[in-house]
Amino acid sequence: MEPTYANVVVTGASSGLGRALALWFAKRGARVYAAARRAEMLTSLRAEAAGGPGQVVPVPLDVSQTDTVVQTLRALDDDAAGGIDLVVANAGVGGMLNGQRAEWPAIQAMLQVNVLGATATLSALAPRMAQRRKGHLVGISSIAAWIVIPRFAVYGASKLYLQTYCAGLRMDLAPAGVRVTCINPGFVKSEMTADNRFPMPFLLETADAADRMGRAILRGDARFAFPWQIALLTRFGSLLPSWVLSRAMGRPSGSRSGSAQ
Ligand SMILES: NC(=O)c1ccc[n+]([C@@H]2O[C@H](COP(=O)([O-])OP(=O)(O)OC[C@H]3O[C@@H](n4cnc5c(N)ncnc54)[C@H](OP(=O)(O)O)[C@@H]3O)[C@@H](O)[C@H]2O)c1
Repeated sequence: MEPTYANVVVTGASSGLGRALALWFAKRGARVYAAARRAEMLTSLRAEAAGGPGQVVPVPLDVSQTDTVVQTLRALDDDAAGGIDLVVANAGVGGMLNGQRAEWPAIQAMLQVNVLGATATLSALAPRMAQRRKGHLVGISSIAAWIVIPRFAVYGASKLYLQTYCAGLRMDLAPAGVRVTCINPGFVKSEMTADNRFPMPFLLETADAADRMGRAILRGDARFAFPWQIALLTRFGSLLPSWVLSRAMGRPSGSRSGSAQ
C-alpha cells in the first residue's frame, strides 16, 4: 500500500522542482512546510495551494546556515501533529566553475548548499524518525553525479556526495523502518537550467518532472533516475575516455554561464 504523508518539508520550494513538488504534495492533502530564502515566492506558493485539500506553510530558510536548518526542522517537527513524516532535501545551486579560474568563495558557496545544507536537512530529523520507526528522507541528486564533465567538477562531486550519503543513510535507517530515497533527475526546465547554452536532451517540463518524482517517493523507491533515456545515455557516456567528454563539451570558456542540472 502507498504511504500517505501528513506533514512534509521541501527545501528549495520557491522555484523549479521544489515548488512543483510542494504543490504536488499539497494537492494530495499534505501540510507542506515550504522552505527557501525568497519569502515572497513562498507566499505566492501558499496562495496557489489555498483552497486545495492540503496547505503550504512558508518557512524562510537559508540552508547554508546549517545550525539554523537543524533547529528549524526540529521546531517544525515539534509543531506538526504527529511530526514530520517526509523531508525532501531539494535546495541546490548549479553553475559552471572552470577549475582554471574558479575562486574558493564560489566553490565553497556551492558545497555549503549542495553538500552541507542537504546533509543538515536530511540528518536533522533522522534520529527522531528512527525513534518513531516512521518517516521518509529524500535527497535530490542529479545524473551529473554519474558522469565527469569539464567545468562541473564541483557540482557533479556535490551530487555524487549526496547520492552516497543517501545510500549509506538508507542502510542505517532501514532497520528502524525509515525510508531513504535518492532521486537523480536529468534535464528539467527551471531557473537553474534557463540560461544553459548547451543541448539538454530529453528536457522535461517542471510539473512532469515533479509528478515523476512524487510518484517515486510514494512508491518508496530507493533510487529513481529519470527520464530513463538520459539515465542510460549518462551511464554509457561515463564509460567514454575523458578526452572525448572534454571535446564534446567544448573548450573551457566560462565560470558561471550554465548549469549541468
Ligand atoms: N533542473 C534540472 O535540470 C535539475 C536536474 C538534476 C538535479 N536538479 C536539482 O534539483 C534541485 C532543484 O533545482 P531546480 O532545477 O528546481 O533549480 P531552481 O529553480 O534554481 O531552484 C533551486 C531552489 O533552491 C533554493 N536554494 C538555493 N540556495 C538556497 C539556500 N542557500 N537556502 C535555501 N534554499 C536555497 C532556491 O530558493 P531561494 O533562492 O529562494 O533560496 C530554489 O527554490 C537542485 O538540487 C538541483 O541540483 C535539477
